[in-house]
Amino acid sequence: MPKSYMVGNWKMNQTLSEIEDFFSKLKLTSNQNNFWIAPQAVHISTCINLAMKAGVLIGAQNCSANEFGAYTGESAIDSLTELGCHFSIIGHSERRSLYGESNEDINKKVLACIKKGLVPILCIGETLSQRENGETKDVVLFQLEQGLKDVELNNESELIIAYEPVWAIGTGKSASSAQAEEVHQQIRRLLNDKFGATGDEISILYGGSVKPTNVEELLSMPNVNGGLVGGASLKADSFVALCNACSK
Ligand code: 13P
Repeated sequence: MPKSYMVGNWKMNQTLSEIEDFFSKLKLTSNQNNFWIAPQAVHISTCINLAMKAGVLIGAQNCSANEFGAYTGESAIDSLTELGCHFSIIGHSERRSLYGESNEDINKKVLACIKKGLVPILCIGETLSQRENGETKDVVLFQLEQGLKDVELNNESELIIAYEPVWAIGTGKSASSAQAEEVHQQIRRLLNDKFGATGDEISILYGGSVKPTNVEELLSMPNVNGGLVGGASLKADSFVALCNACSK
């Protein structure tokens, strides 16, 4: 059985005082290092200190595929791991659409993360028009294949996949559990073809308008192994509810 994760993607949100308030209210009952948060890069250090007591692991929303050098505005993987980051979200649809990240860029980041022991959460997902044109499977599996080019794994915990249909992100309109499971099964088959038995153990998260009211239904699907959550991860009570559902 793949491990279950609840991952908060805070995007470009949260002031310092909101972060302090969040962690002061965060009381998690069960924890197996599977509750993760990705704050803005400038808040990573603060969050690592505050999250340690709560038992939450911290990661980045993005990283550079390059070694140290002249790359203004970027974060080196070595600097992130030095701070104590555990993972990085890679290829989020906002990075793809707003910052022009290509599948090739994303693949370089995935390879660099695995090489350096930072767990990449590789995000893939179709737009509304792609879904309406019946292209979901082709788009998602193409992004997955390209993102995982030349990737080799020693074990399943080195990689996480997140299926995030673009039309469900921040819209309040989640995919149904059946829609999510259908795509997660297609992803699972590709992971199995590529990595054999290890592919059966890689966690596949669902993201897109996950909230306390729909999380249990989504997590009841056999191939939905957790959530990557934006809006509903920003408040402690809501994040705790999501984590509790993930522990059941
Ligand atoms: P929402 O949960 O706000 O829809 O965001 C999903 C997301 O993009 C997580 O990476």
